[in-house]
Amino acid sequence: MNKIQKIVEENVFYLIILTFFTLSIAMFVEILPLMFSKSVTQPIAGVKPYSSLQLAGRDVYIREGCYACHSQMIRPFRSETERYGHYSVAGESVYDRPFQWGSKRTGPDLARVGARYSDEWHRAHLMNPRDVVPESNMPAFAFLATKPVNAELMTKKLQTLRDLGEPYTDADIAGAADAVKGKTEMDALIAYLQGLGLALKNKR
Ligand code: HEC
Repeated sequence: MNKIQKIVEENVFYLIILTFFTLSIAMFVEILPLMFSKSVTQPIAGVKPYSSLQLAGRDVYIREGCYACHSQMIRPFRSETERYGHYSVAGESVYDRPFQWGSKRTGPDLARVGARYSDEWHRAHLMNPRDVVPESNMPAFAFLATKPVNAELMTKKLQTLRDLGEPYTDADIAGAADAVKGKTEMDALIAYLQGLGLALKNKR
């Protein structure tokens, strides 16, 4: 044993190889099995790929940095599930590229905000949060109401997601641009928010 140890410690090449080998054991036991586990790779019942309008809204959400103040990850604790609903499960984010889990909560978690408020509430809130929540420190996003969605881009975006394995049909892709024609970025963002977390909405 001492002899082997001496060889390894005196030869940096062996040391590097063995260090990588040791570290890779963690990958084999922790990460690899997850890649083949249905519970993290398959959507749960009721989770569908985003519609063209929702996808446009999701891109606005990411561009505007909403994730800097809002998480989309309900942890499996009573304090969280009482407030937000069923804890988040991996099968809900299989169509999220990249996922928006996060942990920074200047504002509330949004993982299940879908259908909690009306579209009108969201519109008023995004125009000026103080109009509906007087103590809010969320910035206003009124400018989204005058920015049209870039319709042509949506065809390419759906196509790219299909190349990555998402089950969009030819009809979805053919209709992707028309589905967002005349819509503003605010319409898209609201459509995205209203779809969040519905699959496990009324479960605890
Ligand atoms: C600087 C931090 C900040 C940013 C950035 C931010 N928010 Fe908020 N958000 C808040 C706070 C604080 C609240 C709680 C007060 C309120 O309802 O306005 C909130 C509340 C909300 C709510 C209501 C949630 C509920 O359950 O009542 C929604 C929906 C929302 N934000 C969406 C967004 C979207 C979409 C964006 C990006 C366009 C965004 N927020 C960006 C801080 C932020």
